Amino acid sequence: MPRLIIDTDPGVDDAFALALAARSPEVDLLAVTTVFGNVGLAATTHNALRVLALCGREDVPVAVGAARPLVHPQPREATAAHGADGLSGRAATLPARGRGVEPVDAVTLMAQVLQASPEPVTLVPIGPLTNIALLLAAHPGVKPKIDRLVIMGGGLSGGNCTAAAEFNLWCDPEAARRVLVVEDLPTVLVPIDLTYRCAVDNHWLARLAATGPIGAALDSLTGVYRAHYRESMGFDGTVIHDAVAVAEAIRPGILATTRLPVAVETAFGPARGSVIADRRLTSFADESGARPIDVALDTDLDALRAFILSRLS
Ligand code: RIB
Ligand code: CA
Repeated sequence: MPRLIIDTDPGVDDAFALALAARSPEVDLLAVTTVFGNVGLAATTHNALRVLALCGREDVPVAVGAARPLVHPQPREATAAHGADGLSGRAATLPARGRGVEPVDAVTLMAQVLQASPEPVTLVPIGPLTNIALLLAAHPGVKPKIDRLVIMGGGLSGGNCTAAAEFNLWCDPEAARRVLVVEDLPTVLVPIDLTYRCAVDNHWLARLAATGPIGAALDSLTGVYRAHYRESMGFDGTVIHDAVAVAEAIRPGILATTRLPVAVETAFGPARGSVIADRRLTSFADESGARPIDVALDTDLDALRAFILSRLS
């Protein structure tokens, strides 16, 4: 039974990812923690609570994390893609959750849950990595309780928020470098190189909407998000980036990974926030301080889409 902690900045695709975990019977969703990112922390927290309420999950503790990056300010939010409220302007249409946030912060909750867990836990960051960097800095003793990190982020062949950088890593490159390169936990990185290929079309969304109230509600959150992809990608559908990472956390191996040395650029300039993966056949002397991690670069696209649809139904 996968034991998960999801760190999230909902966010339309985060909503699909949270619902995927919340509605998968074999998943033990131990906690959800929130972080700034797509929109501000108050909105991401509000949205996380409401998506869990939509999925009937009052049992899952939610704790509030970082409101800003470790060192430098967040360059900008992603309201153009997710709407001002983070859910295409539809956040208020989701049910309110009776149970509010926990009295402790996200890092404290993650540490408490990890220390109390009898089995190792998979951490699934699907937003900026600030909370994870803080957890590992403040509570290194919990590392034996983390079996792996499954992280949505990075772009090996270019970015989505700049030409070089993907949004999650770009929001806090210092945190991304700490977690991906300096730390030594087993890590699967799920980059946009794969998540874009996993995009779902309007037919898939229509099938989701027809499955029942949860599917219909999730589909109702995609208006601004789909318009963003139509305008920016010429694609009529949506890219549920975060759900691809959660699918791997739920079903290890559903994504095909390749071990690659990666580095993260933290210098200011056109490449800040980018991930550099060394795909040369024989890596030369390591001058970049890169660390070998598992990068997800392929999957059975139809099987993955069917898996996600089946769980959200
Ligand atoms: O680049 C995609 C990532 O940025 C996803 O996590 C999406 O929610 C946004 O946060
Ligand atoms: Ca996200």
